[in-house]
Amino acid sequence: MTLELRTAGESHGPALVAIVSGLPSGLVIDRAAVDADLARRQEGYGRSPRQRIERDQVEVLAGLRHGRTLGTPLALVVGNRDHANWEWGMSPWPPEGEPHGKGTKPVTLPRPGHADLAGTQKHGFDDVRNTLERASARQTAVIVAAGAVAKAFLRGLGMAVESRVVELGDIDAARAERDTVGGVVEGRARGVPPGLGSYASRDERLDARLAAAVMGIQAVKGVEIGEGFALARLRGSEAHDEIQPGLRRASNRAGGIEGGVSNGEEIVVRAAMKPLPTLMRPLHSVDLATGEPADAHVERSDVAAVEALAVVVEAAVAFELARAAREKLGGDAMVDVLAAHRAYLERIEWTATSP
Ligand SMILES: Cc1cc2nc3c(=O)[nH]c(=O)nc-3n(C[C@H](O)[C@H](O)[C@H](O)COP(=O)(O)O)c2cc1C
Repeated sequence: MTLELRTAGESHGPALVAIVSGLPSGLVIDRAAVDADLARRQEGYGRSPRQRIERDQVEVLAGLRHGRTLGTPLALVVGNRDHANWEWGMSPWPPEGEPHGKGTKPVTLPRPGHADLAGTQKHGFDDVRNTLERASARQTAVIVAAGAVAKAFLRGLGMAVESRVVELGDIDAARAERDTVGGVVEGRARGVPPGLGSYASRDERLDARLAAAVMGIQAVKGVEIGEGFALARLRGSEAHDEIQPGLRRASNRAGGIEGGVSNGEEIVVRAAMKPLPTLMRPLHSVDLATGEPADAHVERSDVAAVEALAVVVEAAVAFELARAAREKLGGDAMVDVLAAHRAYLERIEWTATSP
């Protein structure tokens, strides 16, 4: 038994969709909690007016009845309110009538730092929009919705995932210079028992799975678990977390994972975000229609999205932990999962220090 997540949706298409399969039945999903996470993703210093246009809200098309999961695939939808302005340009079917609204003219000026050029070459498109619409981080909205569902599952098992910004460039200075900044965010999970993930195979390692999930988010260029890169500069005597009576650790430089397996300490994952590549003062590019030098396309853009990234990292970490817990504990119904969790904690005589 495992959890799976698939998403679909273009940035200015009708909607974003996520299908989460593998949830047990009987999990209570609170719509307000999902919408609260969607709102957190849209907040933060440095975001553009689009965030005010969207006001994301989740709809559920399948897998839920009266607020409880049915144990069938859960279909989550977040509409793109802005689609109203792109109805012709982003029509899934051949559009009718005269071109109107946005997205009617082909984009031929690829933006450095985006998938624009490579994606257009890869598919042989003559309109960069065919690439940029899906490559955009807009799809992180449904990842956050799926993460909120994962957090509900984890909460039942006494686990909580949080996130924060650790480093952020000077946004005001960047804005004044029509530039952008990146930063570093951190996700932390408390109450995770020892034994999630496995040392048996590389694709079962919890650290590898968390790293892939977080690196899978747009603009993430580095991921570290615990002290990560800093460990490379320490001696063994300084780097590892000594085991104390009661099987607790005095330190947590490993970020809660040893040998690909959670060790009962807090899980700590950090992600480095590159500066947003769409600049209001465009970078140099080439017009694909003429081959001549030109300024890159300017699509609506933010100065920074580091606070938003923190919320997305939190969702990605929550989903991976829920997946690992699902694999460890099995069960068709939430009561079965809870019983297996209780039995496991009793067997290893483990209680979370900070639930
Ligand atoms: C939450 C979030 C919001 C983003 N918003 C923007 C944006 O407004 N403008 C922009 O140019 N890039 C934005 N990005 C970054 C691009 O999506 C990212 O740089 C692009 O996908 C290329 O990065 P990659 O090579 O890691 O995929 C955002 C990323 C995230 C995670």
